[in-house]
Amino acid sequence: MAPQYETGGMGGMPGLTISDIHSLKRNEALEILAQISRVEKKTFPTNEAFPFGEDLWRKKPNTRVLYAIRAKGSQSDLIAYAVYVRQKGIALLHKVCVTEPNRRQGVGQEVLSYIQQRLRKEGCQYIQLWVDQAREPARALYLRIGFEEREVIPDYYAPGRTGIKMVLDLQA
Ligand SMILES: CC(C)(COP(=O)(O)OP(=O)(O)OC[C@H]1O[C@@H](n2cnc3c(N)ncnc32)[C@H](O)[C@@H]1OP(=O)(O)O)[C@@H](O)C(=O)NCCC(=O)NCCS
Repeated sequence: MAPQYETGGMGGMPGLTISDIHSLKRNEALEILAQISRVEKKTFPTNEAFPFGEDLWRKKPNTRVLYAIRAKGSQSDLIAYAVYVRQKGIALLHKVCVTEPNRRQGVGQEVLSYIQQRLRKEGCQYIQLWVDQAREPARALYLRIGFEEREVIPDYYAPGRTGIKMVLDLQA
């Protein structure tokens, strides 16, 4: 079972819990996936929205869906999510998203530091991702964490939309 990670230590974020949908029971996982799906549709254009269907919970053992929630009274609000795929020593980070009202409060950084810790423990060497050059908040976050830009491909996503390949060396 995946570890649950409660932030809130020195410099952490009180009340924020980061975990993996595979640590949940089926109904709980499906509820989180449905919440993620709603945020995903609001955040990304239709052709870039990731399908957060039940199959993500049932199989695909090397695909990980992480989510962050914050307790609010008796309820928990979805604050962020991320998806990566492990391929031997490399993890491909497909998605990181923080819900709009919760941005710029360090949540993205917490989620990425959780992912780094977990992948390091599992013996992974690199995290790789592609980001649209126009997604400046995301690029700024990745650079801040220590990712390096390795390749720039014009028209990668669509005509006029440049893709940047970024890599984080987990052993550096
Ligand atoms: C990119 C994203 C995940 C950042 O999450 P976040 O929780 O707002 O980021 P953090 O608060 O942890 O920011 C950490 C650092 O990243 C950089 N950063 C984050 N957002 C930024 C912005 N809007 N402008 C400039 N720098 C930014 C800053 O260095 C920031 O540190 P600081 O606040 O001390 O200056 C969030 O903006 C988001 O979900 N965007 C929409 C989805 C997306 O584009 N995802 C990436 C592609 S899949």
